[in-house]
Amino acid sequence: MNPFEEKAKPIEKALQNWQELYPKPYDKREVDPYTKTRIILMNGTEFEANWFSHQFARHVSDNDLRRDLALTREVEKQQQLKISLLKPQDETPLEHTIGYEQLAVDLTAELAKREADCNVKKALDFALLEDFDHLYRYSNLLEMEQGVYAEWLVGRYTEIMPGRPTIAHHRHPVDNVRFSINSKKADTQTVLSTMIITAAEQQTMNYYMNITNFACTDRGRRLYEEIALVEEEHVTQYESLMDPNGTWLEMLLWHEYCECYLYWSCYQTETDSRIKKLWAQNLEFEISHLHKAEELLKKYEKKEWQEVIKDAEFPKPLCLHENIEYVRQILGSTVQYTSEKEEYKKIKDLSPDADFFRYQAIINPTTQIVPSHLVICDYIRKNGADYRFQVAPSPVPELRDRRKDNTCVGRKPNATESTDFFCNKN
Ligand SMILES: [Fe+2]
Ligand SMILES: [Fe+2]
Ligand SMILES: [Fe+2]
Repeated sequence: MNPFEEKAKPIEKALQNWQELYPKPYDKREVDPYTKTRIILMNGTEFEANWFSHQFARHVSDNDLRRDLALTREVEKQQQLKISLLKPQDETPLEHTIGYEQLAVDLTAELAKREADCNVKKALDFALLEDFDHLYRYSNLLEMEQGVYAEWLVGRYTEIMPGRPTIAHHRHPVDNVRFSINSKKADTQTVLSTMIITAAEQQTMNYYMNITNFACTDRGRRLYEEIALVEEEHVTQYESLMDPNGTWLEMLLWHEYCECYLYWSCYQTETDSRIKKLWAQNLEFEISHLHKAEELLKKYEKKEWQEVIKDAEFPKPLCLHENIEYVRQILGSTVQYTSEKEEYKKIKDLSPDADFFRYQAIINPTTQIVPSHLVICDYIRKNGADYRFQVAPSPVPELRDRRKDNTCVGRKPNATESTDFFCNKN
């Protein structure tokens, strides 16, 4: 499928009235977990499309161009609102959070599995273990505060157990910047993956930023505060991978192309027939946006789309599904890693004056004030053991004890051996 070869309708045809804009939400008792994660992913993709367009409009002076951007941007906003309202009223913010972290785990794993660029794959595998740990911390909070077992929300497709402990995620900001890709040389899949994961993590960061002060308890507010800051790190990491050299109009073309790819993927993989129709409708809207972006690129920069996207045939559809074996493999091999500038290093190989330890001393002067640790301590105190859903013991022996929350893995130089990151090429 090449979306440039599809017929496009005028952009205005996508505008909807209030009746059309307000969808019937899914039933939280019956919805497939991956339908929920697709909804969160597309909510985040539309936010990125809308917000990119706002930034673009603030950096050009031609009002004809700004008017064209305003029209498409309005459609992107309508799309985002309608998709976000598929979440029902009776799904609590904390239950919805479980969907965010399941998306982070299974989207990251799926993108990592298909990634040919080793630098990009390492970044995905690296943050994968962190979102995997967030899922565990929020799940314990959810059971403690609302009596809900998160394993039923994730459909038992994603394990719930410690990853690289959240206390170890707090790196000095300089250690989160990676090398960027070159979209003229990279595979189409690689360019798409850097954009998709950045939008998804940015959505997660914004969601936590917005709900932190609405959490019902002190414990919840503190946990969201801590994890929101980790998501800031993830956004820093992933946006640094994206090609920084495209012009605004070239990047507009890539954004619309990426939206087309994702709606096409959602359409191909959706199991709910009603929501599948919504993906089909949105794909049609995006094809119009893409053709508009193509026209603007021609008009203002005298460029053809082929000069920007060398291979416009879509890669295989992005499919969200379980990745239990893959996550276990990455957990077992790389849990003891942190990053230093653009590189990944085992904690035991860092010099004692590394920025990582300096920053850890600032933010975690003692484990006794770290919310992600305290939430598990509270749970263990009340229940005797933490809450987990596992298909087998953890591949990391130090993370098997359900009566003690480990705060050393990935943070303190100790004896455990990790192997190394695995690349798909070479
Ligand atoms: Fe859109
Ligand atoms: Fe994340
Ligand atoms: Fe769009």
